[in-house]
Amino acid sequence: MVLSSTISFDRDSRELAEQYDVVGQRQFEHGKLLISDLNVRPGQRVLDIGCGTGLLGAHVASLIGPAGKVFGIDPLPLRIEIASQKSSKTFEPAVGNAEDLSAFDAESFDVVFLNSVVHWLPDQLGVFRQINRVLKPNGKVGFTSASKEHPHSLVHFLELALASCGFSGPDVTALTTPHRLSSEEVSALFRASGFRETQVTVRTLTDHFRDVDEVITFNRSSSFGNHLTALSSKDQAHVRDALARELEANRTPQGLELKRHLIFAVAEKEQTSCNGCSAGCPTPLHSEAQSYLDSSVASLAVRPRVGESATAACSRATAVHEVIAARRSIRKYKTDPVEEEKLARILESTRLAPSARNFQPWHYVVVTDPKIRQRLQRAHDSEWFYGAPVIVCACGEPSRNPARPGARDYRDIDVSISLDHLILAATAEGLGTCWVGAFDPVVVREELGIPEGIEPILMTPLGYPDEAPTARERKSFEQVFHRNRWSHG
Ligand SMILES: Cc1cc2nc3c(=O)[nH]c(=O)nc-3n(C[C@H](O)[C@H](O)[C@H](O)COP(=O)(O)O)c2cc1C
Repeated sequence: MVLSSTISFDRDSRELAEQYDVVGQRQFEHGKLLISDLNVRPGQRVLDIGCGTGLLGAHVASLIGPAGKVFGIDPLPLRIEIASQKSSKTFEPAVGNAEDLSAFDAESFDVVFLNSVVHWLPDQLGVFRQINRVLKPNGKVGFTSASKEHPHSLVHFLELALASCGFSGPDVTALTTPHRLSSEEVSALFRASGFRETQVTVRTLTDHFRDVDEVITFNRSSSFGNHLTALSSKDQAHVRDALARELEANRTPQGLELKRHLIFAVAEKEQTSCNGCSAGCPTPLHSEAQSYLDSSVASLAVRPRVGESATAACSRATAVHEVIAARRSIRKYKTDPVEEEKLARILESTRLAPSARNFQPWHYVVVTDPKIRQRLQRAHDSEWFYGAPVIVCACGEPSRNPARPGARDYRDIDVSISLDHLILAATAEGLGTCWVGAFDPVVVREELGIPEGIEPILMTPLGYPDEAPTARERKSFEQVFHRNRWSHG
């Protein structure tokens, strides 16, 4: 039988929350090592993401003194109930999600930490970008996580126990800590979210348990009830007995010995980074818009390719934003030709554009012939235009749109969307472009042999840039975006 399971917060219970406050001492102990790595000092403002029952948050509150403050958030209300019993003037626990830090101001924390939390987070990049936002310049983030390269030794015993009961699964660790990271992925995560890594080490911690039931209690309460939930209670009992046999066969004088290999990672916020990208934005982003951007990154539809980590896939998603920010209208080109394989990739992205009713009313004339390019001078008399190694002309078919009388003609919109695909794809390939709408359509039709009824709508030169213009000014977020209803403050 093949195992599969999903993690749910709904499986937590009062009993599990209370047990965690006791068995969570193990996480508390390694959490103290993390806090020492982070060098938390008096007077600092600290955010504890995934604070659980508040053991570590209360400890950090004792380090930061009366002038400091620790905020703790956790999505499990029953654990926050217990954490609240430890609350004080300097420790404030509340229900909250790592994925949504919008309750906290930008640049308001010196330290953010996540102790044994990151391996539960499906959208690690989205979370770390938000952490970047709430950290002060040079602020620190630190976390501990299960290691992908060095699984917990319980995984080995569980695999044996499950196999002896006739179960197989994609990966037992995926059932326990589904989003654990390799050291390389930690580094990529820091880079992609605008942090400078200062430490990524794996520490091995040895635990001793009285018996198998204590092991299972530890795992159930640490996973808020998600331990082997893919199994029926009858099958869980069989696996418990098989696990007991495997563990007992390896008993040491101190008890049942298990080793946890944990990543301890620390990084500092890059001073120059605003949104974790290298686009070099001239001004800091408005904080509300910043959190909007963070949440859109969180929902990007970039899926890992075969054999690719989620973090690497997220880095590709980040690349889209960087390309958009890097694009400029280029009005000076080198004469170097554009490679055919690059051109093919750019045109493929153009072809994939969306359109109203999927009508795809576009045609493109891609001009590389130097004689024809020269003749296009009559259509738009700029040397940078007709001197570029490629000129692209985007044309539109007559509208077949109206299913409804009086419906809007989407032809020009559709053509513009596909040309924007071309322009962004070209930017990603290191090539320059410039939207050109001011040309003589009669000349273009004549020189390019465009048939009657098909309209030349927009053109762009395409080639390697011979200039690096600075970004042109844009309207502010406040001038452009209205939240919920039109408003001007
Ligand atoms: C539909 C459209 C038509 C344009 N037509 C021309 C044009 O005929 N000549 C030109 O030099 N730039 C043209 N541009 C480029 C704009 O001037 C340019 O995008 C704008 O100034 C912002 O600068 P940026 O592209 O470097 O960010 C056009 C842009 C668009 C979107």
